[in-house]
Amino acid sequence: MTEILIYGAGGFAREVAWLVERCQNSGQSLIPVGFIDDNVNSHGKIINELEVFSLESAVAKFPNAGFTVAIGSSQLRERLTEKALQAGLFEVSIIHPNTEASRFIEYGKGTVICAGSILTTNIRLGRGVQINLNCTVGHDVVMEDFVTLAPGVCVSGCVHIERGAYIGTAVSIINGTIDKPLVIGAGAIIGAAACVTRDIPPNVTAVGIPAKPKN
Ligand SMILES: CC(C)(COP(=O)(O)OP(=O)(O)OC[C@H]1O[C@@H](n2cnc3c(N)ncnc32)[C@H](O)[C@@H]1OP(=O)(O)O)[C@@H](O)C(=O)NCCC(=O)NCCS
Repeated sequence: MTEILIYGAGGFAREVAWLVERCQNSGQSLIPVGFIDDNVNSHGKIINELEVFSLESAVAKFPNAGFTVAIGSSQLRERLTEKALQAGLFEVSIIHPNTEASRFIEYGKGTVICAGSILTTNIRLGRGVQINLNCTVGHDVVMEDFVTLAPGVCVSGCVHIERGAYIGTAVSIINGTIDKPLVIGAGAIIGAAACVTRDIPPNVTAVGIPAKPKN
């Protein structure tokens, strides 16, 4: 049984604790053992029957544990992943047992996929990719390291989402082509409910239908 520490202690962390339990109940050898929070005020608290630890005390108590980072922000998730690795924990992927996915998907380390998502075929996920509830991901999609899909995102075929981009809830991304994938640039943020119809440059926030960089 792999003990899982959940880095984060907010609402999404509680959802990920449920996700780990759900994996355990479906026969995966994972068990949630606690939350990690950098906020000292929360250390020792119990949230949904699991204790909140500092990183140091979590590693001392569970030296062989794996971890998952339950933080929506792509950049913060990357920083906390490095911190946990340096502290001696190892990255674990947590994938809901009812995720619909073909055999032709490459998963990076530390992938999180919540309930209700469908990934079709020839998809490559980088490290630390987070796919929240009820997303669909079409054929020939690439998501680089630390990409985040909020709930209800639809990614059509032939889309390339670069490192650390954040796709807000209920965003639709139309398809590219094999020769010319639609590209969402590194670090871009797509606002909730946008429809992405063209490439989005790196590090911009784009909103609306069609999605345009906002001032
Ligand atoms: C786009 C976003 C990043 C902007 O955040 P922000 O910079 O803090 O923006 P503000 O809330 O200050 O709003 C600034 C303006 O943008 C507008 N705006 C904000 N989000 C918008 C969106 N998704 N679509 C269209 N307009 C939006 C606001 O109405 C406001 O307009 P105004 O100046 O005319 O009043 C954010 O609103 C968003 O959509 N985040 C995704 C949230 C999400 O999906 N969460 C899922 C959690 S699991």
